[in-house]
Amino acid sequence: MAITAAMGLRLATIILVLVANAASADYDPSQYPAYETCALCHGLFGVSHTAKFPNLAGQKKAYIENQVRAFRNGHRTNDGGQMSAIATELQPEDIPFVADWFTNQDPPAPYPEEDTTLGASLFNTLRCAGCHRNSGVSDPAIPYLTAQHPGYLEKQMRDFREGRRAVARNSGLHATSLRLSDEEIDAIARYLGASERQ
Ligand code: HEC
Ligand code: HEC
Repeated sequence: MAITAAMGLRLATIILVLVANAASADYDPSQYPAYETCALCHGLFGVSHTAKFPNLAGQKKAYIENQVRAFRNGHRTNDGGQMSAIATELQPEDIPFVADWFTNQDPPAPYPEEDTTLGASLFNTLRCAGCHRNSGVSDPAIPYLTAQHPGYLEKQMRDFREGRRAVARNSGLHATSLRLSDEEIDAIARYLGASERQ
């Protein structure tokens, strides 16, 4: 059967509609796993490009979940509003799912540093490692600090010191033990960033 001009036009329209639908399906966020919404800032595999966004790769699952819930219910507010916006859009059942994704990624490579003596000595003297153990069995709600962006750790320690990250477990303890100078906090952050996650 010969295709008339009118039939041709109708066919072209049908094809256009099909293509348009396929293209919009490509961009439907509900077709993608929830952790992809985290990738823009934290990296798809949990290693971020800037210290503004913490690495999540290999972090403890319970800690990731706690923090997402804390941003979601407004208990943690030192993120400039970015996490609270994302966390409130997450479905509650997605929280363990995204945490699982990031916890199962290889930990980040450390950030090399020439001299870590002062940071190491402060960390040991202040008995931080008693809680923040780098290996072995440890409290699932206490984060690993090793191989984290030094700039991120520094900001968190200052936030604890100045009461900006106040409604957190042990925040009083951190506020007290981190009554240090900016230089000392910076030294601890650089020592931790340079330490390999075991
Ligand atoms: C638009 C950027 C952005 C997106 C997207 C984003 N985050 Fe964040 N995230 C942040 C910022 C900013 C912080 C906090 C930085 C601070 O406290 O200074 C943060 C902190 C966190 C922390 C705390 C980590 C720690 O070591 O305490 C977790 C866990 C986290 N995000 C998980 C997620 C998950 C899961 C998603 C996806 C559902 C996500 N984030 C999406 C920007 C983002
Ligand atoms: C009694 C146990 C305990 C001790 C001791 C302790 N911490 Fe923590 N630390 C925690 C817990 C619990 C959190 C997570 C708080 C939360 O749930 O928001 C934390 C969080 C942190 C964070 C934020 C990490 C992140 O990914 O956002 C930093 C940085 C930190 N601690 C540094 C230190 C340093 C430095 C010391 C020593 C001066 C120290 N901590 C001593 C229990 C402890």
